[in-house]
Amino acid sequence: MSRAAKILIFDSGLGGLTVCAEVARLLPDAQIIYAADNAAFPYGELGEDAVVARVLAVMDRLIAFCGPDAVVVACNTASTLTLPHLRARSPKIPFIGTVPAIKPAASQSRSGLISVLATPGTVARDYTRELVRAYAAHCKVTLVGSRVLAPLAEAFMHGKNVSDAAIAREIAPAFVTSGELRTDCIVLACTHYPLLLGQFERLSPWPVAWIDPAPAIARRAGHVLRELLGFPESNTASATPNYVVFTGALATGPELLEALRPRGIEKAVMEPMPL
Ligand code: DGL
Repeated sequence: MSRAAKILIFDSGLGGLTVCAEVARLLPDAQIIYAADNAAFPYGELGEDAVVARVLAVMDRLIAFCGPDAVVVACNTASTLTLPHLRARSPKIPFIGTVPAIKPAASQSRSGLISVLATPGTVARDYTRELVRAYAAHCKVTLVGSRVLAPLAEAFMHGKNVSDAAIAREIAPAFVTSGELRTDCIVLACTHYPLLLGQFERLSPWPVAWIDPAPAIARRAGHVLRELLGFPESNTASATPNYVVFTGALATGPELLEALRPRGIEKAVMEPMPL
């Protein structure tokens, strides 16, 4: 394969940038198109049928728009519902999903008390509950759904002040005790949440391991490009610059562009897709 690989990384907003940063670091030769469906943000507030319909419609447009070799759905709220639909609809494109990292948390926990911090949508999914049954039956798993954290992460990326008190209130239910034992692993099951990791660590009642699946997703994307699609490990073909596509109106102020650059994104374009 003599051209650079093209990867579409998709989320409802800016959360998937936490995955994008890892993909950009691991696969510097690939071109990344990051798509934020900000016209429909937050997915966590939409019903299941609405998420499926929206993601399929937007994905059709994005695939036609940029012709990716592979797609990373960098959103737990979407992945836990839409992956089988997306794969059936575009069988030639590999889709790499992001689902709650319950398996690694359950094997890493010493206390057996783990928590899953996610959107209300992801917490309610059968898919998430099935992961708990399959991989964490020996643990006490606390599912915590937050309506507030993803919008706070968006505000933070736009350079706005986010309240410590609001963050502390949202993460508090994830810290559980049982006799002498206490939660020691918390799964970041929304890609927006690692954007606030500094605040989470500072505001935690006690230290825990925060499980971010982004590095594993980037490794999976690398495997798909090389093993499945045949792109070489290092490619001399120069990729065109990475960019972000927004589906809704957005003031891309200097704070946002500054936050995008270290995550491998150099410019922003609009492809309006009203909800
Ligand atoms: N970043 C998305 C996720 O991983 C959620 C944000 C939203 O509610 O749209 O679940």
